Amino acid sequence: MSLIENLKWRHAVKAYDSTKKVSEEHVDKIVEAARLAPTSSGLQPFKLLIIRDQGIKEQLAKGALNPECMRNCSHVLVFAAWDQYTAERIDTVYDFTTDERGLPRGRFASYTDQLKQIYLNQPSEVNFAHTARQTYIALGLALAQAAELRVDSTPAEGFSNEVVDRVLGLEKLGLKSVSLMYIGYADEANDWIAPMKKVRVPKSEFVIEF
Ligand SMILES: Cc1cc2nc3c(=O)[nH]c(=O)nc-3n(C[C@H](O)[C@H](O)[C@H](O)COP(=O)(O)O)c2cc1C
Repeated sequence: MSLIENLKWRHAVKAYDSTKKVSEEHVDKIVEAARLAPTSSGLQPFKLLIIRDQGIKEQLAKGALNPECMRNCSHVLVFAAWDQYTAERIDTVYDFTTDERGLPRGRFASYTDQLKQIYLNQPSEVNFAHTARQTYIALGLALAQAAELRVDSTPAEGFSNEVVDRVLGLEKLGLKSVSLMYIGYADEANDWIAPMKKVRVPKSEFVIEF
């Protein structure tokens, strides 16, 4: 199936069958698609948390707009971005990159100095808005990979960041939750949106040509 066919196939599932689990092989592929996402300056300023534990899902469900999705899906993926850019974080990524490429550390120092000049002089909220934006590219690729595997999914911002950050101890990790992705297999009897037409604005309205 082509990417376009996969994107037409997927929809944001509203009810999951709790008896059906996604194989760890498929979970790995979905995570890999997110890991390979491009990010601004290659900083990959976020982590992906995989929630399998039912007890944790129950705690997270307390702040969820779709608590039944949280409870009944197979795995919850949490996209959590750096709360801030720091010189140490930037240097750690670039030291790793140069080591992996067999280049001397500091090879990109003039570039990382520019990044630090910008980021370290901005409020942390501005930097978090930037790190959070990076996660959406990864979310999109993960959704596309899930669709290729015929794994059902729901991207979700409908949750309490306060609850997710507290339950998962994200502050200690220097992270803040941005979005969730429920994965699993739809409960076809209760996934009320499934029979409805996928609606997108027509290309003639979507595209502005010059
Ligand atoms: C960033 C993002 C956040 C979303 N949050 C929720 C959510 O909290 N709950 C939900 O049921 N759907 C959520 N959705 C799903 C959208 O409503 C859905 O993708 C949109 O209506 C298009 O429908 P489709 O994905 O089924 O084609 C979210 C989608 C995105 C991309």
